[in-house]
Amino acid sequence: MKREIIITKDGSPTIYLPDLNEHYHSIHGAIQEAKHVFILNGLNEFIHKENIAILEIGFGSGLNALLAAISCIEKEKGTIDYAGIEAFPLSDLEQSKMNYAKLLSFPSSIEIQKKINHSPWNENQVIHSKFHLTKINSKIEEFDLTSDYFDIVFYDAFGPRAQANMWTIELFTKLFNALKENGLFVTYCAKGQVKRDLKAVGFSIESKPGPPGKREMTLAWKRF
Ligand SMILES: C[S@@+](CC[C@H](N)C(=O)[O-])C[C@H]1O[C@@H](n2cnc3c(N)ncnc32)[C@H](O)[C@@H]1O
Repeated sequence: MKREIIITKDGSPTIYLPDLNEHYHSIHGAIQEAKHVFILNGLNEFIHKENIAILEIGFGSGLNALLAAISCIEKEKGTIDYAGIEAFPLSDLEQSKMNYAKLLSFPSSIEIQKKINHSPWNENQVIHSKFHLTKINSKIEEFDLTSDYFDIVFYDAFGPRAQANMWTIELFTKLFNALKENGLFVTYCAKGQVKRDLKAVGFSIESKPGPPGKREMTLAWKRF
């Protein structure tokens, strides 16, 4: 599928898929959206937990992993064990154009992004003593997940309009089972049917204000 790199309103790049008329991130700001959805309303919900296991669906450019790594390194204590699943990895050339680290003010962001980019697929790698990464090259539908393992699922698939098969009760059930009790499924999507389906699977739904350009986003908790 054809992929074009464009610059979003906060100056950070994203990828546009003309065939699906879909972007990897918000055109209002890729970094701004990723920070708002996955860090402020995702990772920060677990700020007091020392060791956090995160599963990302749709690893793409690795922006969410980079931001999570920086957040964790900035914290005095704690580690992150991060698994990112991606069915269609970016090429080295595309990846080299996703220059997020240069746009962030964290001192070693460039070194961290380089390590994330060069981390081999399907191997656990130490990106930093506090941040371990496994990039998994697979479709989520075809990958077996360990039950009760993850604290957070970053759900960053293409939207339901572009990729309806990523927003099914079957897939939500698989992710519900992979989360620990009190675990969190967080997504930028706020579609009513998605929230109803997440609820049907057993999640408790919380709606939060979305990033600029989007009214709402969704947190779905595994609480009994
Ligand atoms: C919205 S983009 C993700 C953006 C990414 N998190 C980033 O920050 O660059 C959706 C991603 O899901 C991937 N994808 C599509 N179908 C998939 C599947 N069945 N399993 C896993 N990943 C898939 C796409 O290749 C794409 O990288």
